[in-house]
Order: sequence, then structure tokens, then C-alpha cells
Amino acid sequence: MDHQVNERIIEVKNLDFTYQGADKPALRGINLTVRKGELIGITGANGAGKTTLSYCLNGLIPSFYEGLFAGEVRIKGRSIFDLSIREISQWVGSVFQDPETQLVSANVEEELAFGPENFGIHPIEIEKRINFALKAVGIEGLRHSTVDALSGGQKQRVAIAAVLAMFPEIIILDEPTAELDPVGTDEVFGVLRRLNREFGLTVIIIEHKIEQLATSCDRLLIMDQGRIVFGGAPDEIFRHWREVHKLGVRLPQVTEFFGKYFGSEPRKLPVTLEEAQALAENLLSLGNGEQDEPNRYY
Ligand SMILES: Nc1ncnc2c1ncn2[C@@H]1O[C@H](COP(=O)(O)OP(=O)(O)OP(=O)(O)O)[C@@H](O)[C@H]1O
Ligand SMILES: [Mg+2]
Repeated sequence: MDHQVNERIIEVKNLDFTYQGADKPALRGINLTVRKGELIGITGANGAGKTTLSYCLNGLIPSFYEGLFAGEVRIKGRSIFDLSIREISQWVGSVFQDPETQLVSANVEEELAFGPENFGIHPIEIEKRINFALKAVGIEGLRHSTVDALSGGQKQRVAIAAVLAMFPEIIILDEPTAELDPVGTDEVFGVLRRLNREFGLTVIIIEHKIEQLATSCDRLLIMDQGRIVFGGAPDEIFRHWREVHKLGVRLPQVTEFFGKYFGSEPRKLPVTLEEAQALAENLLSLGNGEQDEPNRYY
């Protein structure tokens, strides 16, 4: 198990990509290693190249979008140029922003069977996979539901389950909660954390919702104009909150607040409300002359 945990499941080296007809590259000098079992968040302003990078990982580039490609992308050690999109789709599952556009069946059970049936998987095995996928995203009760009758969060969970029924090793989600309310957003992030923790699924999630990314991801990548400009644990990244903010990335509210009023870059800023509370209490007690865990966050 240990060596598998460290497996370099995705390797991107010096990747540049320019869409056909575009006047500038959408990706420039991307270097990225993803290890099996990581939960990675990608964020950055509109047009930064996040979706394009995801296309290079799920095979839509080079199979579907044409353009100028330089560098290397390897999935499980194999170049994407040596893999068909069908082969890649067995390893890498993709979930997009709008669940409506990716759900193709009238009911949940059919939706989950669709992918495996296409790959000629035996009905007994399909049944096992459906049970696993429904349970993994916590929608066992919706097995016989009509897709139209579901909430946005439920639909997105069906979309994730449909991808899981393919038994992928990696799942890439491009703004999967953009159309969801806060409850639906929490449902999706909760499911992703669980899939990652319990099943060791490698998860790459592109999002603008920074609070959720900060609290769920092991590693956060910030993209700007086709490059990855920051990469690291969320609290490491937020040490550079001023630069991150300048790139058009919204910061967690508590990070921005403490950054503006108290912080300077080398100090560890809070990311969650709990961390902010602990820090505020600490600062207040220090103000009262008490010595309680100084410098824990600040
Ligand atoms: N099919 C395409 N043809 C030509 N140029 C494209 C195409 N898709 C995206 N681009 C350009 O590539 C660059 C990166 O776009 P991309 O969609 O990857 O950004 P993004 O970070 O996903 O943005 P958003 O947050 O808006 O989804 C942009 O300059 C965009 O205009
Ligand atoms: Mg995008």
C-alpha cells in the first residue's frame, strides 16, 4: 500500500498549449506531479487556464481540442498521446459544472449503469458497482428516482456516482458546485473528502469557492495566465495573501481579515473560522497580560 500511496499518478512536464487559432497560449510551462491519494484544489481568475489543464488530464486535449502542444503529460506513467480517450476515461473520471448536461438517463440506476454497460462489463459486476457508487456518495435511497426530480446537489452526486461506477483512480471536477446552493456545495465537498479518505481516490477539484478548497484540500494550486504561480498547503499559500489577492483570487474571509489587520507574510494566518476564533482568543488573552500559547497562528 505504501509504495502505491506515493505513486506518481499524474506527471506534467513543461506543458504549453495554445488552442488552434488563439493568439496566446492557454497553458505555459506547467509542471505538476500528482501522487495517488492526493486531494488537490485548483483555483485562479477566469481565463487562467484551469479548464484547459483539466482537458490535458482527461484526454480532451489532444483528442478533442486541437492546438499547439509542447511538453509531456503522463497518466500512470503513460503519455496521453499513447492513450485513447476511452482508455483514459477508465482511469480518469470527469465531472463538470452543470450536472444537467452530463446526466444522460431518465433515472438514477440507468445513469450509473450507462458507463459500465458501454465498456461491456458483466451485469453482475455492474450491479456491484452501482451499489458501491450509490453508497459511496450517500444516495442509496435515490436508486429508483427520476433524475428530473432531484435537487442540484443530488444531481451532482449522481454525476459523481456515475463516474465512480467506472472505478476510476482519479476524479477531476471542474467547478462542480458552481450551480449549487451552500447545502449542495457542502454535500459535494463532503462526498469528495470521504471518497479521498476512505477509498484513496485521487481528487482534483477546480473551484472558486476558496473556503471549501482551503478546508478540504491537501494542496492548492493557484493559476494565472496559463501558469501555476503558487502551489502548496492552503495555509502556506495564504502566507502570500497579498499576491494571491492581486491575482483576482478571493481569500477566505478570516484569512483576509487577519492578513489586513494583523498579519505579515511569514506568519501563519487562520483559514477556518475555528482557527480565527482560537487566534482572536489568544490575542485577547495576551492583551490582558495572560501568556497563552503565543505565536500559534500569529
Ligand atoms: N476552445 C477554445 N478555443 C480557443 N481558446 C480557448 C478555448 N477555451 C479556452 N480558451 C482560452 O484559453 C484560456 C484559458 O481558458 P480556460 O477556460 O482554461 O480558463 P479557466 O481558468 O477555466 O477560466 P474560468 O474560470 O472562466 O472557467 C483563455 O484565454 C480562454 O479564452
Ligand atoms: Mg474553466
